[in-house]
Amino acid sequence: MSAHLDVILAGRSICICTGSGGVGKTTTSAAIAIAMADRGLKVAVLTIDPARRLADSLGLAELGNRPSRVELAGVGEGGELWAMMLDAKATFDEVIERYAPDEEARLRIVDNRIYQQISGALAGSQEYMAIEKLYELDAGGEYDLLVLDTPPSRNALDFLDAPRRVTQFIEGRTLRLFIRPTGFGARIAGRGFGAVSALLRRVTGGDLIADLSEFFAAMAALFGGFRDRAERVESLLGDERTAFLVITGPAGESIEEAGYLRAKLASAELALAAIVVNRVHRTAGPETEEPWLAEALGDPDLLDRVLAADAGLRVLARRDRASVDRLRAESPGVPIFEIPELSEEVHDLDGLRAFAALLVAPQPD
Ligand SMILES: Nc1ncnc2c1ncn2[C@@H]1O[C@H](COP(=O)(O)OP(=O)(O)O)[C@@H](O)[C@H]1O
Ligand SMILES: [Mg+2]
Repeated sequence: MSAHLDVILAGRSICICTGSGGVGKTTTSAAIAIAMADRGLKVAVLTIDPARRLADSLGLAELGNRPSRVELAGVGEGGELWAMMLDAKATFDEVIERYAPDEEARLRIVDNRIYQQISGALAGSQEYMAIEKLYELDAGGEYDLLVLDTPPSRNALDFLDAPRRVTQFIEGRTLRLFIRPTGFGARIAGRGFGAVSALLRRVTGGDLIADLSEFFAAMAALFGGFRDRAERVESLLGDERTAFLVITGPAGESIEEAGYLRAKLASAELALAAIVVNRVHRTAGPETEEPWLAEALGDPDLLDRVLAADAGLRVLARRDRASVDRLRAESPGVPIFEIPELSEEVHDLDGLRAFAALLVAPQPD
């Protein structure tokens, strides 16, 4: 089978790159965005934690929760590359602004100490805010293709569950306890409140209970809109215009997680467009000592070291071959791209283009 990036993304306007941490999600997202801009599309890449030099190459040094244009020479006609670094906190603030009934209600929330903690640290908020931003840009309709890099979660699946977790949090018991007039908040506000509150104030250095009650009461006004929004955001994941790419390393936990993620996407009826196995070890060196190599190196000691290094690489290459073959066997019908371990980090536009060129190569199968 031969599979190309163009074929995989035909008819799609959203590409979500997912996978465990450190496997090359950010690199792949940026490479795909450049490749598709080269083909004449107006593309925005939403990235999360680009390495410093990649961020510089994409002009991401400046802050701002909007895509900005990347100067890119040699793109096809109509092609444009836009990039932004996701800022979960700023996106959360924007959502609050959208649903707060008025400025006073908005300020009551964003100035609240609890909100400031929660919006920065709510489990899944970074994942949720990434899809939220994607939803907003998609609704704006300005781009032909949006490429989303996903947060470096402990578990790549957190990302898929993020909208539901936010909805559950909103509808869940924690909030209800505080909002219901007969709830926990009301009860502790009665007898014993003074003592509890004084204790908490001493422990936390602030009036925690007052902050909590205030926060939850203010959030209550937003729930309806926010929940509807979370549902719409979630439905974007299953939209037929959305393609998922799973990025993985060639061995160990990461390739196991790739298999797990593939199954999870299938059971959630989300479209897995391809799996990218990144950093695959390959060796083309000679298997045994050959006269020409000894002659070329001209030093028996050096020859020994070269052969030893090559033998090590050969072991890695065999291991990678076996695990990629297993993944292929487990994933019938899913195109699998293999990107070799490159000799240098991928951090400039040319490097990304070269990386993307490997995604369009025909695949052995
Ligand atoms: N095929 C490759 N060969 C060599 N280095 C790579 C390759 N792919 C990615 N890298 C480097 O690995 C590092 C991590 O990649 P990154 O895309 O940031 O991973 P993630 O976003 O999944 O955490 C970066 O420094 C990147 O340049
Ligand atoms: Mg990353």
